[in-house]
Amino acid sequence: SSHLRISKPKVVVCRDLGPDVMPLLTKRDDIEVVLWTEDRVSDRQWLLENVKGAVGIVIVFSELVNAELLDAAGPNLKVVSTMSVGYEHIHVSELAKRNIRLGYTPDVLTDAVADISVMLALMAGRNANETMGIVREGLWPKFIWAPFSLCGPQLSTSGISPSRTVGFLGFGRISQATLARLIPFGVTDCIYSSNPNSSASSKKKRNEKLLEQHPQLKSVRAVDVDTLAQESDVLFVLVPGGPSTRHLINEEFLRKMKKHSVLVNAGRGTVVDSDALAKALREKWIWGAGIDVVEGEPDVGKDHPLVKEPRCNILPHIGSASFETRLAMATLAVDNCLAGIVGQDMPAELDV
Ligand code: DGY
Repeated sequence: SSHLRISKPKVVVCRDLGPDVMPLLTKRDDIEVVLWTEDRVSDRQWLLENVKGAVGIVIVFSELVNAELLDAAGPNLKVVSTMSVGYEHIHVSELAKRNIRLGYTPDVLTDAVADISVMLALMAGRNANETMGIVREGLWPKFIWAPFSLCGPQLSTSGISPSRTVGFLGFGRISQATLARLIPFGVTDCIYSSNPNSSASSKKKRNEKLLEQHPQLKSVRAVDVDTLAQESDVLFVLVPGGPSTRHLINEEFLRKMKKHSVLVNAGRGTVVDSDALAKALREKWIWGAGIDVVEGEPDVGKDHPLVKEPRCNILPHIGSASFETRLAMATLAVDNCLAGIVGQDMPAELDV
């Protein structure tokens, strides 16, 4: 009878990972899978109840992992596996305290997010949101073409346009993949501000390596945040988020930027103060913005100050949303979890 059965280790999965990936979990007879089947953020109460006694949890970036959840899980919990490269939603120090391992999904989404970053830079510079609005609202027939109407600053550099300095706030995998894409556009100068803990010598080494990798590049420099604001023609925000970078892009920063500059955020919404950005766009301190993430998302309705700015090109957090990338992320998240619950090396573990 059932009370004599030894229960199998439980894995809680907070999203349906689809027909290609779910069987990696559900076809196993050595674990019990508890699945939140709806395509929306798992209900918190459901999660707190079901996580009790679990050895592993597979989540996405909308599930908050804090002391409350970990306490609800209890001492069996060995691994939290997030289907994301970001970990702003995870209180890592709480994991460390409890010796719980963290799996995440770096690398497999680098190209997809770098693609979107370039797309946002182009959209912002060339006014995609505002100009597509003309068509969407049926105003094209009334629109009078004029030599200099609807122009924006060009990203490509050639004989007719000055060279552009691209700036990166955060200079990890995605930033470097974005830079690589921009070199064929004629970008020759790159500045960045990154992890304050990395040494001057490691930065020097990295800069030299990049110059070697991309012979068209003339300069790569680590700079302070003020210089980043002042010198970037296109600034990419690609940091993981969290308290240390909250509102780094604020009024003070935006006021220092060039009038024709473009801000791209494909990292985390919390890095940019939305009200300050809306003001910067309204008062034309900068040219435009392209953002895939917004603080407080998904609560970004029609009345959001950024939605009201025509020069703000907003995507609903789709940076990694290609079929190929999401399949790879889901597979990696499951592989991390399966390795973690049996104490093996995880394919992608974040040191907590
Ligand atoms: C990530 O991976 O962190 C993205 O934001 C979600 O795809």
